[in-house]
Amino acid sequence: QAVPHRCCGTIDDAMTAASRTPVRLVVGAAIVDDLERPTRLLSARRTEPSALAGGWELPGGKVDEGESPLSALHREVLEELGVRIRLGVHVPGPLPGSTWPLGDRYEMLVWLAEVVEGDPQPIEDHDELRWLELDDLRAVGWLPADLPIVETLEAMLAGP
Ligand code: C5P
Repeated sequence: QAVPHRCCGTIDDAMTAASRTPVRLVVGAAIVDDLERPTRLLSARRTEPSALAGGWELPGGKVDEGESPLSALHREVLEELGVRIRLGVHVPGPLPGSTWPLGDRYEMLVWLAEVVEGDPQPIEDHDELRWLELDDLRAVGWLPADLPIVETLEAMLAGP
């Protein structure tokens, strides 16, 4: 018989939660033109999978097994956009661990970043990049999961 606990439901609830497939960690870069004085944010239009194609997102991707989130972020940005970046602050999300929810299967850690080498090009996973003025961040159709992150960035990056 399930024993209810005053804080967190029944033991069955806890067992169910523990047995859920663990979420996969994704990392994303909110690339601005200048970390010290940001005026623009880089958005990227996805080409796949078909369910997400055409949606705009922060570049990034899955952390591989045995890889640190920061290494994964530098690798993904280099693979996808062909640039090296310098990281700024972490953009805290609402979930435990400061991650952002991406559907049921993924959670994303996000950092501010700026390009230190190269000129971003849509090399892999995207077919178009666009620099958005900070007062016009909704000019593209963001993926639903990225929209709350963009709203947070809007507030974080707003000038004095
Ligand atoms: O880019 P990648 O396919 O490795 O990302 C894994 C999943 O994370 C995607 O299928 C997508 O659902 C989600 N994602 C997202 N927004 C991002 C990056 C990834 O919704 N900025």
